[in-house]
Amino acid sequence: MIISFEGIDGSGKSTQAKKLMARLSPTTDEILYVREPGGTDVSERVRSLLLDPALHIFPFAEMLLFSAARSQLVEEKIKPVHSRGGIVICDRFFDSTVAYQGGGRGVAESGWLEAFQRTVTAGVWPDRTYLVDVSVTVATDRLTARLGDNASPDRMEQAGASFFERVRQTYLDLAARDKGRYCVIDGSKSEDEVEAAIWSDLQTLLP
Ligand code: ADP
Ligand code: TYD
Repeated sequence: MIISFEGIDGSGKSTQAKKLMARLSPTTDEILYVREPGGTDVSERVRSLLLDPALHIFPFAEMLLFSAARSQLVEEKIKPVHSRGGIVICDRFFDSTVAYQGGGRGVAESGWLEAFQRTVTAGVWPDRTYLVDVSVTVATDRLTARLGDNASPDRMEQAGASFFERVRQTYLDLAARDKGRYCVIDGSKSEDEVEAAIWSDLQTLLP
């Protein structure tokens, strides 16, 4: 089973992906947590390129780099666990590319990008995707609190509020189009309330 978490930066999705990992681990024979971009030596190197504020990366090249990191992660880490029947928790997966590079940057329309991602992931697809949805204001406040005074934003976090509004809207459109896979969670609630909502939904899927 593959469970992915999506949302704009600062939505709280990594917090929830890790909570779910901790909750499922004791009762699951094989479980893997991966966060994108990254998760393999190759993908972590690509990640450092993608987040480096000193680099100017053109939007289509950016899309290909995120996809390259993902392809490596799928082949090296996700596929083996998935094919043995294990659970994979993905802290971001290909929907991030559709939302950020498609909706945010406008590199291509969603249908084309989704079809391309089928090739990138070799057809490996989540059984459930939790969209942790918050307003851009809430997300920005959380990120500011997390960054503190001394840290500077990474290359992606430097995009303005209107970029993140487009990303959020693209996620909501994707979720509306694919209600069977997507579950939209109100991420503005407390960490415990968000966790309970995800856990309650997951009961319908777990064996
Ligand atoms: P993301 O992975 O979506 O960027 P994180 O899980 O890293 O977000 O959370 C961003 C910040 O917000 C962190 O400092 C985290 O502790 C905090 N946070 C996460 N979930 C909540 C919540 N439900 N309410 C308030 N703060 C939260
Ligand atoms: P990260 O620090 O992991 O952010 P977060 O904690 O919010 O997940 O940085 C990943 C950044 O890359 C984030 O801004 C989202 C962006 N991203 C894309 O633009 N496209 C993608 O396909 C992926 C996986 C991430």
